[in-house]
Amino acid sequence: MSLTRRKPLAELMPEEGDHGLKRALTASNLVLLGIGAIIGAGIFVLTGTAAALYAGPAIVFSFILAGLGCLFAGLCYAEFASMIPVAGSAYTYGYATLGEFIAWIIGWDLILEYLFAASTVAVGWSGYFTAFMAELGIKLPPALTGAPYAVQGTHTLVPSQICVDPASGAVAVNEVTRTAIPIADCVSGGFTIVQGFLNVPAMVLILLITALLVVGIKESARFNNIVVYVKVAIVLLVIAFGIKYVNTDNWHPFIPPADGPGHFGWSGILRGAGVIFFAYIGFDAVSTAAQEAKNPQKDLPIGILGSLAVCTVLYIAMALVMTGMAHYTELNVPHPVFVAIDKAGPALKWLGFLVNIGAIAGLASVVLVMLMGQPRIFYSMSRDGLLPPVFSSIHPKFRTPWVSTVITGIVAALIAGIFPIGLLGELVSIGTLLAFVIVCGGIIVLRKTQPDLPRPFRTPLVPLVPILGIAICGYMMYGLPPDTWIRLFVWMALGMLIYFLYGIRHSKLNKA
Ligand code: ALA
Repeated sequence: MSLTRRKPLAELMPEEGDHGLKRALTASNLVLLGIGAIIGAGIFVLTGTAAALYAGPAIVFSFILAGLGCLFAGLCYAEFASMIPVAGSAYTYGYATLGEFIAWIIGWDLILEYLFAASTVAVGWSGYFTAFMAELGIKLPPALTGAPYAVQGTHTLVPSQICVDPASGAVAVNEVTRTAIPIADCVSGGFTIVQGFLNVPAMVLILLITALLVVGIKESARFNNIVVYVKVAIVLLVIAFGIKYVNTDNWHPFIPPADGPGHFGWSGILRGAGVIFFAYIGFDAVSTAAQEAKNPQKDLPIGILGSLAVCTVLYIAMALVMTGMAHYTELNVPHPVFVAIDKAGPALKWLGFLVNIGAIAGLASVVLVMLMGQPRIFYSMSRDGLLPPVFSSIHPKFRTPWVSTVITGIVAALIAGIFPIGLLGELVSIGTLLAFVIVCGGIIVLRKTQPDLPRPFRTPLVPLVPILGIAICGYMMYGLPPDTWIRLFVWMALGMLIYFLYGIRHSKLNKA
């Protein structure tokens, strides 16, 4: 009985008043918040690898496929967000429809999407930042810019080795930046090997952003708005100027012939979709700001679908330009956008510089939105009694969920300091896809169980759209490696343990 108890919708609605979160965000703030969370390591880092190894120029089709999966999930999110505009996102939707246990499972799963994504993108940011500093002549010690662990072979964790050019101090091989020189060639190539110790830049970034988030939602949104304008402007410049330097020979063949499962051909496009799915993660983060939106029922769907639409168009154009400027085989680098621009020669040198700035600022804003979303989910879980009350304490002056913000920041910083980007990224993708599948399923259930509820936004073509969302997202999950599945199961088992030891007994519904 406890496991399937549902929270009545009337009780889910937030209490207004001085002690609640501050309603400060407009529709355009929400769209910008979504774009802030979406454009990041996915387009700036992963696109190149996915084009070079899996799909070739047909990475464009991978973007379309992953975008469709997100569109279907986004339409379902929009219905829920307009109907239940509270801070907990998919966790709260689950509580209203599928019962407390599934809600807890989603909430626990969302930690993978938000907290772990913040760590992942911070690690990607650290790679760009370190390389940029080296270009400016400031050499950060490699041991303090790399994780102590790397992923090898079938995803086993091994001590990381960083290959350093002793003359310039630049990192030649690094799990963080995934530069292409094999470690075996490091010493013979005249480089030295250093053991990674801690990714300090990634940790510092997270802690600084955490401090900003404690100070206020409005200040954070303002910072985010500026950064989003910068990064969208740079993406538009790349598209507008890059298009003139496209060599259409690079697009032939557009779908390179398959040379093994998942390598080029149609199966490569599918595999590529699973990898670049990461680039779309974040549009649903808009729903975590529901209690801070001025007009959530109307504006949340605008924020979710608007940010997704803008980014899908930008990604497809960007993928075409990148694979048109450089041959896809040259893009397996940590900074593929820069490499593509570099192909244009001196004429676009100025743009290459801006691309680096855009990546550094852009990735920071992704970390910001993820670190903002997580405490708001903890806040909701704590208000429901499933987490200790301290997670929902609001700062008397700043009116932000400051304790959960600080806890999130510290844990995310530790994870970013210790683990490599590849492992984290796949865990984030599988966790997010699982949440999408459950949200799509929830829409079908709620239409059956509570058909008369007011729905300011209705997902079109139910049950077709949610079913397609489940199918595409489920397929992308299926494409992720077995080790990632095992890590997901371990994480979920830990979550269940916590629920049975704490949540089930402290749930507010016990007293109802
Ligand atoms: N979509 C976000 C990124 O690509 C998570 O960085």
